[in-house]
Formats: sequence, structure tokens, C-alpha cells
Amino acid sequence: MDVKQVLDRVTLDDVQLRDYSHICIGGSARRILAPQSIDELRVIMPWLSERGYLAVGGASNLLFPDYYDGYVLLDERLPRNVAFENGVVNVTANTNVNVMLMKLSLVHAGGFEFLAGIPAHIGGVVKMNAGAYGRSIQSLIHSIEVIDADGKRGILAVDEVRFGYRTSSLTEYIVSVNMLPEEKDHNMILDDVRRNIASRRASQPLQLPNLGCIFKNPPYESAGKLIDECGLKGHRIGDAMVSDVHANFIVNMGKANYADVMKLIDHIREVVSSERGIELELEIEVVR
Ligand code: EPU
Repeated sequence: MDVKQVLDRVTLDDVQLRDYSHICIGGSARRILAPQSIDELRVIMPWLSERGYLAVGGASNLLFPDYYDGYVLLDERLPRNVAFENGVVNVTANTNVNVMLMKLSLVHAGGFEFLAGIPAHIGGVVKMNAGAYGRSIQSLIHSIEVIDADGKRGILAVDEVRFGYRTSSLTEYIVSVNMLPEEKDHNMILDDVRRNIASRRASQPLQLPNLGCIFKNPPYESAGKLIDECGLKGHRIGDAMVSDVHANFIVNMGKANYADVMKLIDHIREVVSSERGIELELEIEVVR
């Protein structure tokens, strides 16, 4: 397949990044590409790697600008699959976490319930080593199938990747992940999923567009608690507001834009720094 032909075939013309963003913010980009097969992906990968690109999955942790002068690679049209054999789960990177949980519960494959309610694709969860309730995805990973900058498929064993708190050393494009589940009864899994979603619903503003926790928790602190104690719940710039349910969430009250959110992030940082002497570090990825 000729690169130019594939590029023309997979380019989306009439989409805005806000259509993918979980906080409903973001304009157009230089070029938005949605390959429909791994072969197409492999053909365009060298071209993209040369120029630099932004991989977008569930976009639940990405803040997009009004115009992104770069290349966006969407996973939405690639094949999706959740497979389970010989005790190993293989999930394509573009699988929604909650869909994965439901499918795995049918084969009594558990251990992922801490992710319930996170509106992400599993590829993004692996890339940022996401987690909750003191757990991170790293502890369940066996290996990761990637496509490197030359377009070659490869398998990285988990110990070939360095994982940290909400971070990893992965630079290749993630195609799928092999994970080692815990054997758990179907109903037990569903009970834990329901419980975790209920506790998120009780403590997080899930019904408003948001990007999850904005800041990482400083050591032995909760960023939400710190921001709350600084009296910033409900603080609003334009249509971006510090959630009054959980202060480490910024919610879009209508037509918030990138600038509103960035100004609010800066304000929160300034107040927490001056009142508590703590420098908050972003958990979300700001696309510039
Ligand atoms: N709290 C407040 N005010 C607030 C928010 C929290 O007083 O506005 C208090 C809570 O009452 C609780 C403590 O702070 O006593 C911790 O709050 P929470 O249980 O919500 O935990 P968190 O540290 O704020 C972390 C993760 C969340 C994850 C929850 C539950 C980070 C940065 N945050 O939140 O992850 O859902 O634990 O496990 O790791 C995310 O990563 O996007 C995210 C939401």
C-alpha cells in the first residue's frame, strides 16, 4: 500500500477534537487520521513518527487547544477485541475499560474492577499507568503489543517498560495488551464494579464533562483535599469550574475553552502554592 494513498484514505476532514474530548473542548488539527486496520497503521507509522503525532484513545485525560498544529492518530476505527485463553487476557488498546470489564466478567477474569467508571481506552490506561484505590494497571500487565517508529510490530515484556505513578516509558504505539487476570466469580466482579462506580458517583462529578483528576496527588496528600481546603470549590473562570463535588476535578459548565481551563489550572496552582507551599503537578496531558 502506498503511504500517500493510505494517508488520503484515512484522513478525517470534518471533525473537531471536542468531538472526542471527555471535557468537550478542542478545535481542529492540522490532520486527523483514523486507520481502519493494523496494516494501514503500519504503513503510515514511519511518516507519522518522522513528523510527530498525538495518539488519541478515549481522550479522557487530554486537554485539546482551539487549534492543534499537529497530526492526530485516532484508534476508533481499528479492530476491537477482548480475548481470553490459557489464563491470559488480550485486549486491543482501543477497548473502552468498562466494556472490557463486562466482557471479562463473563469468563470470570477479574482484578481490573478498580478501573470501573474510568471513561478511558485500555491503551491510555497502560500508557499512563492509570489506577485508583491504590492500584495501578502495571501490576496486571504481562506484555504489550506495539508498533514502533519504523512500522514494525513487536511485543514488549512488562519488565522492558519502566512504570511510575501515573507514567510509563512507553513511546511506541500500543496495539494491544496481554494481562494476567485473577480468577473471580462473575457475580463478585459485577458487585465490585457496581461498588466502585457507586463510590465514584458519590465523590466525583461524573455527570459533567471532565478529565478526571487534574493534578497528581502529592506524597501523602490528596490534591482534591488541598484544593478544597483552600476554598476553591466552585471557583469559575468562564465556563470552567472547580467541581463542588471533588476539588481535583475541573468541569465544563457549558462552553468552556482551553484558555478558561488553563487559567483555572494556573489559579489553583498559585493559591495552593501560596497557602500550602505545595506545587501541584498535572495528571492530565495538556496538548500544545
Ligand atoms: N477530599 C476532600 N475534598 C475534595 C476531594 C477529596 O476533602 O474536594 C478528601 C476525601 O474526602 C478523602 C480524601 O480527600 O478523604 C481523598 O479523596 P478521594 O478518596 O477522592 O481520593 P483522591 O486521592 O482525591 C484518588 C485518585 C482518583 C481516584 C480516587 C479513588 C489521583 C490523583 N486521584 O483521588 O483518581 O478515583 O483516588 O481511588 O490519583 C483520576 O486519576 O482521574 C482519579 C479520579
